[in-house]
Order: sequence, then C-alpha cells, then structure tokens
Amino acid sequence: MSHFERVKLAPSDPILGLTTAFANDVRKDKVNLGVGLYNNEKLKTPVLACVKEAEALLLTTQMSKEYLPIDGDRLYLDQMGGLVFGRASWEMEKGRIASFQTVGGTGALKIGGTFLKEETDRLIWISTPSWPNHRGVFSHCGLKVENYPYYDTKHYKMDFDGMVSCLEKLEPGSIVLLHASCHNPTGVDLGPAQWEFLYQLFKTKQLIPFFDFAYQGFGNGLEEDAAAIRYFLGSGLEFLVAVSNAKNFSLYGERAGCLFIVSQSAKIAEKITSRVKQMIRTNYSNPPMHGAKIVAHILNTPPLAKEWEKELTQMRLRILAMRELLVLKLKSTSKNIDFSHLKEGRGMFGFTGLKAAQVEKIISEYGIYMPSDGRINVCGLNHDNIDAVVSAMVAVTAEG
Ligand SMILES: Cc1ncc(COP(=O)(O)O)c(C=O)c1O
Repeated sequence: MSHFERVKLAPSDPILGLTTAFANDVRKDKVNLGVGLYNNEKLKTPVLACVKEAEALLLTTQMSKEYLPIDGDRLYLDQMGGLVFGRASWEMEKGRIASFQTVGGTGALKIGGTFLKEETDRLIWISTPSWPNHRGVFSHCGLKVENYPYYDTKHYKMDFDGMVSCLEKLEPGSIVLLHASCHNPTGVDLGPAQWEFLYQLFKTKQLIPFFDFAYQGFGNGLEEDAAAIRYFLGSGLEFLVAVSNAKNFSLYGERAGCLFIVSQSAKIAEKITSRVKQMIRTNYSNPPMHGAKIVAHILNTPPLAKEWEKELTQMRLRILAMRELLVLKLKSTSKNIDFSHLKEGRGMFGFTGLKAAQVEKIISEYGIYMPSDGRINVCGLNHDNIDAVVSAMVAVTAEG
C-alpha cells in the first residue's frame, strides 16, 4: 500500500498540453500559435548573439560557482534597477526599493505574493482575463484571488470603465495586479491618461499596485514600456514590480528575473529586505547564477548593451509585422471577418475572436494550434505559413 495512494491527479496545464499535442501531430504543415515563446522567421527561439558573447566571456573569466547572496547578484540587480526605473531615478530612489533576484518572473510573483500574504493578507485582484498562471501562483501564496473587468470580449477592446468602477469599490490596502505592458493574453494595454487616472485612484483608495513586467521592450520600446512604472515611482506610491528576462533576453530556461518592492523609506526597505531574504532562504536558499550573470554583463558593457537593444528591436519589429500582415491578409481574403483589433495590440498575444468550436476545428482539420479561447501568439506565424493560417481562419469562420 502506497503512502501516496490518495494523491489526486492534477489537471494538466492547458498550454503545455497543447504543446504536447502539437509535438505529437505528424502533419508537416502544422502551425503552433499557442506557445508563449518568441519565435523568429524560421520559427526558432534563438539564443541572442549578445548572450552567446557574454557566455563566452563568462566561460573564460568565471573562476568560481560559489553561491550567490540570498537576494542575488548585486550587479544584476543594479543593472535591472536602471533598466526598469531609468538610471537617474534608480540612483536617486534605490535606497527605498528592496530588490531581489528571483527564479524568473514567476518566482518574482511568488515571492512578492508570499510577502504580501505574510505582511498584509489582503485580497489580490487580477484582470479578466489574465495570464492563466496568476491565479494559481497567488492562490498558492495563500492569497484570496478576485477578478476585475479589463477586456470586452464582444467588441475586442479594453473595458476601462468596468475596471475603474470595480477598483473604486475595493477595500483600502487591496492588491491590484497590473500588466505594465503587452498584456497577456489580450495584447491591449492602458494608455498614459489611463495610467494617470489609475494612479490617482490607487492613491485615494490606498490600493497596492503589483506590476507584472514580463515584456519590457516587446511593446513600444524599452523606455516606453516602462513608462507606467516610472510614473508611479515618481509619484510616490508604494508598489511591487515582478520582472522577467525570459522574453527580452530570450533566456527562458535560465530563469532570470527579479522583484522590486518600492516602499516609502530606506528604513522600511531595510526591514522588507530582511523579511523577504528569510522567505527566500527557507524556500530555495539563493537564486541561480548563470542567467543573471549574462544579463548583468550585457547591460554593464555598453557595446553589448547596444547589440542587445538591436536584437530586441528586431524581435519587436517582427512581432508587429506579423500582427499587421495577419490583419491585412484576413481583410483582403474575407469580408466576413474583421480581426483589425489585433493590429492595435502589443506583445506576442491577442484574441482572434475564434470560438471554442472553431478552434477545435482549426486544430483537428488544419493542424493550427491555439488554446480554446482563440488567443494566439503571432510569433507562430512566418511568411511561409501565414497564407495557410489565413485560409483556415476564413474557412472555420465561414462554417460558423
Ligand atoms: C504575464 C507573464 N508574467 C510572468 C511570466 C513568467 O515569466 P518567467 O518565464 O520568467 O517565469 C510570463 C511568462 O509567460 C508572463 O506571460
């Protein structure tokens, strides 16, 4: 008799399940629009040239693999602080910002959520819809998770009024998870006026913003994508930022990420640092080294940083080009379907508007994979497969 006889089978992750089904599909012309990775025109997730260069240097100069400090690599955190908040603001404000290298962006959300559970134990509000893992991560922190309206699935646009009227009613101290840029899964971001409005609301209602920042540089640019976070920093609110380097450095498996907790004073930040270090110590002790060293070296070496920005720009432009081409081709192929909302979106994701039955059909009959809600990653498209995807979309929508 097993000690673990009563263990219940957990439901499989819908996106990872889709990846397995795609891998098992023998059709040569299959297309994966489901996966959350950047793919280049050859549909590969590349190791960036600047990363290769940094790794080559690390290989010859790194003399020890001893543990990092509990809160991570100092150079990495300093460089990331500059990247996220802007160098001048970081230098001025870093005393009141507790910073931690984490196990990717997910680790930053988990450590941030655990900190909020232990120190505030308030409700956390996430957008409808949101990255599917948000609910799971925060629930596992012990936080109660609720949803605020964000996206109008009938008209494929933001529901800012719905969002505001929900947030206005929250208890003081409630936590609100916000996507700083490239909202996953809708691709629809708040604009400057909306961020300013939210800032006032957060201030008067005393809410705690928690930014998820997994796509800096994938939306409108490195500076532009950080604008909301920088605005909030300049305006004096306390908030958290969970950062991932998976996408913008194409370092997925290296698990590079960090958490910033912006507080009112250096004295509070010092206490926060001590508490969070204790959480990390009793969780995974200290973070992994390789990915953070790569990022730190690139950002700290101006020619490499320039090379990285060039490669990041190429990724961003390919994403935008695929969005535009898909919309254009659909428009010129069919009068019935209008996916023009996809053009306005930013980042890799967006909703096509395909219904669950149409998604089932496009997978089974055409080998084009996406989750049942019709959300796609435009990086699964290239100039070779886009016409087939357009024809399939037109066919499944024409059939109802
Ligand atoms: C919105 C969002 N947050 C966080 C993450 C997690 O990033 P990481 O892979 O660094 O854990 C992702 C990854 O897909 C994401 O889309």
